[in-house]
Order: sequence, then C-alpha cells, then structure tokens
Amino acid sequence: MKLGWRMVRKLRIVNARNGTFFNARFFSDSTTQLPLASMTVDPSSNTTKTNNNNNKNSTSSSLKHLELAKFAAIADSWFVIHFYYLFSVISNFSSSSFQLRHVWSLCISSCMVRWDSEGPFKPLHVMNPTRLAFIRSTLCRHFGKDPNCAKPFEGLNIVDVGCGGGILSEPLARMGATVTGVDAVDKNIKIACLHAGSDPETSTIEYCCTTAEKLVEEQRRFDAVIALEVIEHVADPAEFCKSLAALTVEGGANVISTINRSMRAYATAIVAAEYILRWLPKGTHEWSSFLTPEELVLILQRSSIDVKEMAGFVYNPLTGRWSLSDDIGVNFIAFGTKNTH
Ligand SMILES: C[S@@+](CC[C@H](N)C(=O)[O-])C[C@H]1O[C@@H](n2cnc3c(N)ncnc32)[C@H](O)[C@@H]1O
Repeated sequence: MKLGWRMVRKLRIVNARNGTFFNARFFSDSTTQLPLASMTVDPSSNTTKTNNNNNKNSTSSSLKHLELAKFAAIADSWFVIHFYYLFSVISNFSSSSFQLRHVWSLCISSCMVRWDSEGPFKPLHVMNPTRLAFIRSTLCRHFGKDPNCAKPFEGLNIVDVGCGGGILSEPLARMGATVTGVDAVDKNIKIACLHAGSDPETSTIEYCCTTAEKLVEEQRRFDAVIALEVIEHVADPAEFCKSLAALTVEGGANVISTINRSMRAYATAIVAAEYILRWLPKGTHEWSSFLTPEELVLILQRSSIDVKEMAGFVYNPLTGRWSLSDDIGVNFIAFGTKNTH
C-alpha cells in the first residue's frame, strides 16, 4: 500500500513535469460511457443484453463496440499470405487433385501464413521484443524463475487478454508457459489459431473469442494475467481491471501496457503515428480514452493489484527500435501483484 502511494506521488511529479494532469475519468464516466458500459455482449452467442444494475450476479462488460469494429476492420492485416511461395510449390507438383489438396493443406498449415510486420500492427511488432524483456524479467523475479534459461515460464499458466493475432501469446508459449489467448474479435482469434498452428510449440495455445468478464464467470484463474494495449480500448477501465484481478490467483502477477493521457502522447501516438507517419489507421486511438500512470496505479490498487514496477517505452528514430526507459510520458507498462488481503 505504502509503495503504491509512494509510486502515485512519484508519478504525479512525473506527470506534472510532462504537462499531464490528474482527473477522475476512471471513476466510471457515467455520462459518456453509460450506453456502452451498461451492455454485456456475449461473443459466443453474438447476443447483446442490457445489464440490470439490481442484478448483483451480472458482470459489466468491457466491450466498446466502436473500438471492436475498428479492430475487426483491420483484422486481416495481422498476416500476409505468401502466394508466390504457394504457386512455386504447386508448380513443382503434378496436378492430380490429391496432390494439390495435400499442397494446399501443407501451405496453409506451415508456409503461407506470415505476420505482416509492415502493416497496421507494425508498432506492436517492433515493440514486442522490448515488452517481452520487461515481462520476462518481472515475471521471473516474481515467480523465482531463471530468466536466462530457454523456458523460463515453464509451469506458469498465463492469459493474454485482448491477444489480437497472438504476437505476444506465441513467444510466451515458446518460453514454456501454458497460454490462453482471448480476444473479443472473432476474426483475430481465427487468425491467431491459424498462425499458431504452424509450430508445435505454439499450437498448444488455447485461443478463445471471449472477454475477461466471461472468463471470470467461468471461474478461470491464472498465475499471470497480461493485457497489452487493450485498456485504452475498453468501455470501463476500472471494471476491466476488476476482471483482470479476479482472473489472477492470490499472489499472482499482472502486466498491463497502455498510453499516457499526456500532450506528448497526443503529439506522438496520435498526430505523428496516425496522421504523419501513417503507422496506424487514422482514428485508432482516442486521446480521452488514455489513462495516466497514476490513474492506472489507482484503479489497479482498488482491484487488489499493487503495482510494483513501471517502465516507459521510448522510440529511437535513428535505429527504428524501442527500449525500456524511466520516461513514462507516452507508452508505459506496469507490473503488479494481486495482494492477499
Ligand atoms: C491494440 S490490439 C493489442 C493486441 C495485443 N494485446 C498486442 O499488444 O499485441 C487491442 C486488442 O484488444 C482487443 N479488445 C479490445 N477490447 C477488448 C475486450 N473488452 N476484451 C477482449 N479483447 C478486447 C481488440 O480486438 C484487439 O485485438
């Protein structure tokens, strides 16, 4: 608790320096969020039902339909299909239909599907090694694992909430974790399954089109709950964090990354990334949906998660690489543990 408040005080200073301010947006913004936050969408049945506030058992939804529509529209750009490779393989075979069918299934299962690291998810691909470095070091320290061994996450049960096409789930599985990847967009899950299926090390990932709230209802529990670049797209960040906490075993770990609601983030993550460099489709991010680090620390604390470590990501335009930094003014990542009281 003390550490949390010290961190909040420190973060407040950092944010003051970055020109950001503290406000109470995360206390469920009933005027702007109500129509979305009061709906529960069941992705498996595609039904939408309105929450009854008197019903204590109903789980409030994290789904923000406009955001999900944006991700559904660009879902295909998670990967590219290597037609050149496909045709060159086919041309080496005679055209008997059995052989053609065999080639098709071979190509689909193993060679055709490659991540499109130049598409709209390029920033996530480029950031991936840096965020994995943070996750590897914090989880290994917390769970007493050796970060230098080939499978440091062996024995850990991890859920990747909002997994998209699976670019984080796959390396987690390669590091030995038992991974569940969930996303509210069905197309993303299909793509993630298709890609993971091509490698025996990743084909064990359990992918499911669902939400954190649904997993809570199913009483699922994990050693570590990870949600990277998702919280800025949900309807109610505080409720979302409660679900993440409920999915975590006592003493388990949480890792969340997002974008700071700072002026610098507006200039870089929105104006530069979406409108000048065109790394992301215009309108991908809404500045008002970002959380400051101190807001994230507070909503996690209210969900029984104590933030123990935080780092920023900074981009070097000369090398085109991201690195971990103390600068949490734009992109940042937090590691927390579920407290036992
Ligand atoms: C920016 S992408 C991040 C993908 C992945 N976490 C990564 O960082 O590589 C955000 C993902 O969150 C998913 N998403 C948004 N709201 C969600 C929710 N309430 N529950 C589950 N997934 C959600 C979207 O469909 C999208 O795939």
